[in-house]
Amino acid sequence: MQKPTPKNEEIILDPKRYIVSKTDEKGVITYGNDYFVEISGYKESELIGQPHNMIRHPDMPRVVFKLMWDRIQNGQPIMALVKNMAKDGRYYWVVTEFESKRDKLTNKIISYTAFRKAAPRDAIKAIEPVYAKLREIEAQSGMEGAQNYLLGFLEDKGLSYDEYINQLVGNKGLFKIFFAAMKKLFG
Ligand SMILES: Cc1cc2nc3c(=O)[nH]c(=O)nc-3n(C[C@H](O)[C@H](O)[C@H](O)COP(=O)(O)O)c2cc1C
Repeated sequence: MQKPTPKNEEIILDPKRYIVSKTDEKGVITYGNDYFVEISGYKESELIGQPHNMIRHPDMPRVVFKLMWDRIQNGQPIMALVKNMAKDGRYYWVVTEFESKRDKLTNKIISYTAFRKAAPRDAIKAIEPVYAKLREIEAQSGMEGAQNYLLGFLEDKGLSYDEYINQLVGNKGLFKIFFAAMKKLFG
């Protein structure tokens, strides 16, 4: 499917609702809840069976997804701030927790789930220049340069990636509690 042209217009999310999607082990969408479908602007049938990068916004640095995949392929969860693009080119920001699920018998990873909620305004304000810088470095010197910049940036702050994201989204771990509850429902 043709990718939409990004529009500089934001979709304001309902802070009470959550956006959930699941993929197979390759990142192909297998499920989306009602709000995921609604906000994406696509029909459910247009989403299922497509690679999850179909809602990727070009402002998102590749290095963020690399970090995410490295983590979930190891069976560990990760929380990230993500800017996504709807079918009409508008964008929305979400705090996203990515999780993996293993087969109980073989212990192999069989699927991934993402839980998302509206991102706090100040977290978006803080991350925008960081992502813009990472995109700039990626364009100039590729993913490795961006990864080095990100590591240096975090080292300067004395924080791990997770600590940094936790600090940005704040709420005294409320997101973590929320995502844990979601996992019980959808996991
Ligand atoms: C469960 C799950 C949910 C995902 N959700 C998103 C998402 O909301 N937005 C996004 O851009 N990528 C998402 N991805 C990552 C994409 O698969 C892809 O790695 C990313 O869009 C980068 O695209 P690229 O590999 O073509 O550069 C998700 C992956 C998984 C496993």
